[in-house]
Amino acid sequence: MNILLLGSGGREHALAWKMHQSSLCSQLYIAPGNAGTSQYGTNVDLPISKDFQEMESFCRTRSIQMIVVGPEDPLVQGVYDYFEAAHQRESFGASWLGVIGPSGEAAQLEGSKAYAKLFMQRHNIPTASYKEFSSDNYDAGYEYIRNHTLPVVLKADGLAAGKGVIIATDHDEALREYELMLRQSKFGAAGHKVVVEEFLSGIELSVFALTDGTHYLLLPEAKDYKRIGEGDTGLNTGGMGAISPVPFANDAFMKKVEDRIVKPTIEGLRKEQLTYKGFVFFGLIKVGNDPYVIEYNCRMGDPETEVVIPRLKSDLVSLFVSTSKQQLNQVVLEQDQRSAVTIVAVSGGYPGEYKKGVAITGLETSESNSILFHAGTKATEGKVVTNGGRVLAVTTLSDSLSVAVKQSRKLLEQIQFDGMYYRKDIGYEFPES
Ligand code: AMP
Ligand code: GLY
Repeated sequence: MNILLLGSGGREHALAWKMHQSSLCSQLYIAPGNAGTSQYGTNVDLPISKDFQEMESFCRTRSIQMIVVGPEDPLVQGVYDYFEAAHQRESFGASWLGVIGPSGEAAQLEGSKAYAKLFMQRHNIPTASYKEFSSDNYDAGYEYIRNHTLPVVLKADGLAAGKGVIIATDHDEALREYELMLRQSKFGAAGHKVVVEEFLSGIELSVFALTDGTHYLLLPEAKDYKRIGEGDTGLNTGGMGAISPVPFANDAFMKKVEDRIVKPTIEGLRKEQLTYKGFVFFGLIKVGNDPYVIEYNCRMGDPETEVVIPRLKSDLVSLFVSTSKQQLNQVVLEQDQRSAVTIVAVSGGYPGEYKKGVAITGLETSESNSILFHAGTKATEGKVVTNGGRVLAVTTLSDSLSVAVKQSRKLLEQIQFDGMYYRKDIGYEFPES
């Protein structure tokens, strides 16, 4: 079948790498893709957010049967619903499988923190206690924050490119941020509603499910490393590395995650008739021995995908077909029991300002059991150059987490670009694993 994959990061390279291995995949197109995705398909320069008409024409002329969506923007903007309506208006043909992802309404689980909080309340899913405020009840919010225990967490309701969460350690800072969001549009319309919530202290992990709206498969869990500096210090980034499995996520803990969080979420989607045929990302925190939801995302994580997908032995395209046909109950997932580690190499200056277009050398390097995923890269005039903050992700599979880390580092040592930086301590909390 012909498949269109949306996105351009390390996540999309990992998805393209895996889909390309499927005998069900004939033509793979990636919009817009990166220098790595073009090894497994054809990169196409299509707008993927807001205006889906060009994408629709492309799908009709190339006989696309399935669209797989990497990032959240197209999903929150309703790409699923757009293509459902387009198919009703003029059929894409009998073999059309549709968009792998949630409907625009269900994508609000990521697109609106307040929506997600209300959903969790309705379904008794453990999460931090909270209240939501807007300009309508500004003064009440001011009082609420002033009397809140510290630290206090403020979240812009809408999508804010990962920057919309403020953890304030004093009341003045919290009130200033509150004022900036609601009165000065610090995050634009995304911050016109603010969720104020209790700070939860614990260790985070990412859990993923693939659902067809009724059934689900639990994918390998992962932990990402968000801070730029070693020992989890410095500024937040999109993610500097990830590991899977997560040593503390043992069977007893994962059973709590499934019983208290995953099942009630999928059941909640079904009861509320929210159409959802795609990945659910549960951003969790372990407080004591209990899991709480920090956030939902309606897509896979990046860089978590670069460790989760290599640990899947099952055919990914076949899983998507079962998702589309609502037959995930007929599938048993096969997983690689080894540990996967990915280390992300970033541009100098990231997550602040950085240069683009810097030449990268050493990309032909290979090691068995390692995979070099591209993130922010671009092919130009026969050369591969940097094209983003996160540039590459090197994943290694091994029986031992620490051996996998060493091998990914060894491969990265052979790659160079001016300003290149990566964390050498991914997985540092688990020296025995
Ligand atoms: P989010 O954008 O919702 O993923 O939040 C970004 C990060 O802020 C999370 O990964 C957590 O590290 C942190 N965070 C968010 N909410 C809370 C909370 N209620 N308690 C503690 N940390 C939080
Ligand atoms: N790694 C976190 C995310 O993809 O949102």
